[in-house]
Amino acid sequence: MDYSRTPKELRPADSYAAMSWAAVNKALRDSTTFSTQLYDSTIGIFMGPTILAMSGLTHKQHRNLVSNAFKPQSLQVWEPEIVRPVVDELIDKFIDEGRADLVRDFTFEFPTRVIARLLGLPEQDLPFFREAAVSIISYASNVPKALQASKDLKQYFLGHIEQRRATPSDDIISDLVNAEIDGEKLSERAIYSFLRLLLPAGLETTYRSTGNLIFQLLRHPEQFAAVQENRDLLPQAIEEGLRYETPLTIVQRNVTRDTELEGVAIPEGAVLDIVLGSANRDENRYERAEEFDIFRTYSPHISFTAGTHTCLGLHLARMETRVAMDALLSRLTNITLLPEGNPHIFGQPFRSPTALPVTFDVV
Ligand code: HEM
Repeated sequence: MDYSRTPKELRPADSYAAMSWAAVNKALRDSTTFSTQLYDSTIGIFMGPTILAMSGLTHKQHRNLVSNAFKPQSLQVWEPEIVRPVVDELIDKFIDEGRADLVRDFTFEFPTRVIARLLGLPEQDLPFFREAAVSIISYASNVPKALQASKDLKQYFLGHIEQRRATPSDDIISDLVNAEIDGEKLSERAIYSFLRLLLPAGLETTYRSTGNLIFQLLRHPEQFAAVQENRDLLPQAIEEGLRYETPLTIVQRNVTRDTELEGVAIPEGAVLDIVLGSANRDENRYERAEEFDIFRTYSPHISFTAGTHTCLGLHLARMETRVAMDALLSRLTNITLLPEGNPHIFGQPFRSPTALPVTFDVV
């Protein structure tokens, strides 16, 4: 991780990196030795106590509670009622132009709108909570801005929690307000902290992974044509997109005891960067690891991590991407990437295209 812009007090004293598939996979599956507790003193300062930094039984109980809101039956309802209408509305806005920037007009927009609807938040608040979510995850480069965003989101969500108490509605905030652990309701702090995690977790990653997939398909026209022709190829294209261009390349753990990982001694107290992006291109696991190939023999990637903190939103993310791509490919054809502005994939630890200026015909 590049700590050059991070304030001194947030930088680790001793830092290691797991790069190979074997090291990454092992570290993620041993959450006792490689703990997420360090998030409490990094992103947790801005999000509050979230499941990301919890461990053991507390993590299990809280995760079970919130994972209820993401169960497969919910996805079946959300797909036709929320996700498809959101992506169609966005395409409606640019389809008559014959050109668009698919980042600005599409990939950047749809996950925010989906989360807003799932949480029951009004559409006019979109710019506010999108900016606040981005400020929070960019905490390392602007601490005061992230602290202000954290306070603003707390006030904002407290208002919504109070509203749901008075008038329950059919959304995730209501589910959280009514949820109980051992007969006890979740505290307001637990609810708004989880919501402060959910916003960036749901927005930042899905918009980037969808942009990465579109970019790679546009650079591989024969694979693009195959997917446009046969939409059943979408799931494998999505998985290859997530492998080849990992949207969140690094997660971190603090080392709780002296240990060894793939022959390297690591002392207690060190911080371990777990480089998902590197594991996803490990030549010992993937043939032609540096090639984007949606037809490769499937071998799962690790972009959603593994072990107890495996991404809670992975089914939602896959469904959103599939529906967004399906809508795009059903309604637009001859999509061509324009060279203007030199679109390219950029960023660490979050990666995605800077822009996707395209022209297209209407199907
Ligand atoms: C392609 C899209 C996504 C990617 C690549 C992704 C990636 C990740 C990763 C790498 C982690 C683990 C972090 C760590 O172990 O340190 C994680 C955790 C999490 N993700 Fe996602 N995510 C995506 C979409 C979503 C969505 C759509 C949601 C919900 C709306 C979501 C909610 C969460 C939550 C709540 C956790 C914490 C789980 C726990 O600590 O038990 N993610 N995600």
